[in-house]
Amino acid sequence: MTAPTSALAELCADALAALASAADEAALEQWRVAWLGRQGGRVTGLLTSIKDQPADQKAAFGAEANRLKRDIEAAFAEKHEQLKRRTLRELSTTEAIDVTLPGRPQVIGRLHPVTQTLRDCVKTFGEMGFRVAEGPEVEWASYNFDAMRIPEDHPARDMWDTIWVDKLIDGERKMLLRTHTSPNQARVMERTPEPPIRVIVPGKCYRQEATDATHEWMLTQIEGLAVDEGVRMSDLKGVLYDFSRKMFGTERKIIFHHSYFPFVEPGVEMALDCFICRGEDPACHTCHGTGWIEILGAGMVHPEVIENAGYDSNRYTGFAFGIGVERVALLRWGIEDIRHFYQNDVRFLSQF
Ligand code: DAH
Repeated sequence: MTAPTSALAELCADALAALASAADEAALEQWRVAWLGRQGGRVTGLLTSIKDQPADQKAAFGAEANRLKRDIEAAFAEKHEQLKRRTLRELSTTEAIDVTLPGRPQVIGRLHPVTQTLRDCVKTFGEMGFRVAEGPEVEWASYNFDAMRIPEDHPARDMWDTIWVDKLIDGERKMLLRTHTSPNQARVMERTPEPPIRVIVPGKCYRQEATDATHEWMLTQIEGLAVDEGVRMSDLKGVLYDFSRKMFGTERKIIFHHSYFPFVEPGVEMALDCFICRGEDPACHTCHGTGWIEILGAGMVHPEVIENAGYDSNRYTGFAFGIGVERVALLRWGIEDIRHFYQNDVRFLSQF
């Protein structure tokens, strides 16, 4: 390509006019490719054409073309700066951060009231020297019932409407969702060659219950077991009194009733005075008019359960207890209905 020196001025004017009309960075980039691009850029082409000029004009043309290229590059750089500043200015208004705005509050989670209570109970027993063990929620009927002296035909099996696992083993339903944590008495003794034992087993239990203010079909229990030489009923009472004082303070009234559980002899139930009606309302939903809310069953481990573990029941005695953790939580905070715990209403849960 040949271009007379006189045409250079015209080309320069065209380039600058096109540059001036580039309205944004994308248009500017298009302009750069068209004019300064390595391949096919018009200014680049101009420089390549220096070598094609007649020998006597080459020097003047070359000098002129190079000056023109520098001018155009400088104009481009300035335009580039200008557009960049404009973009920044726009960003500073559209994307501005108002540091004086108050922050958005973050919702902070917390432990469920039953979990809090469970942990406090575990801590309290831990301070009395009980270690923690665990057992399966899907349990063998042989542990849940037989090991606890509740044979197939025993009326005590009717105490629980059990949720069975459908799978048949040797043609029978043999597994269930444990109805209590007591089978762990047998499980713990089985794996302890010789007493002393001082253990608690916290966990969930399941019963096909008609739910009411104090009964849920899923419940949390803490099983306790102590076996040693010379363990007596007074040890059991001492531990449970201590536990109650720590959980409920010294003002609450505690009562032990005689009760029947096949795996203990004698058996008791421990209850606290009803915080709703103070024993004055015969129609009270929480204590059913008795004035007392039962929170645990307990007793002296039946000698047969001790013998089943392979221990000598003449040498060793023990006590056991099973605490209803939801009941403890009810009494602690004065909650009138156990069903609140598992309805997942944040307005309720966030109060604890
Ligand atoms: N397992 C019983 C229940 O769920 C509670 C219980 C009663 C546990 C007496 C014990 C006990 O360890 O000694 O109703």
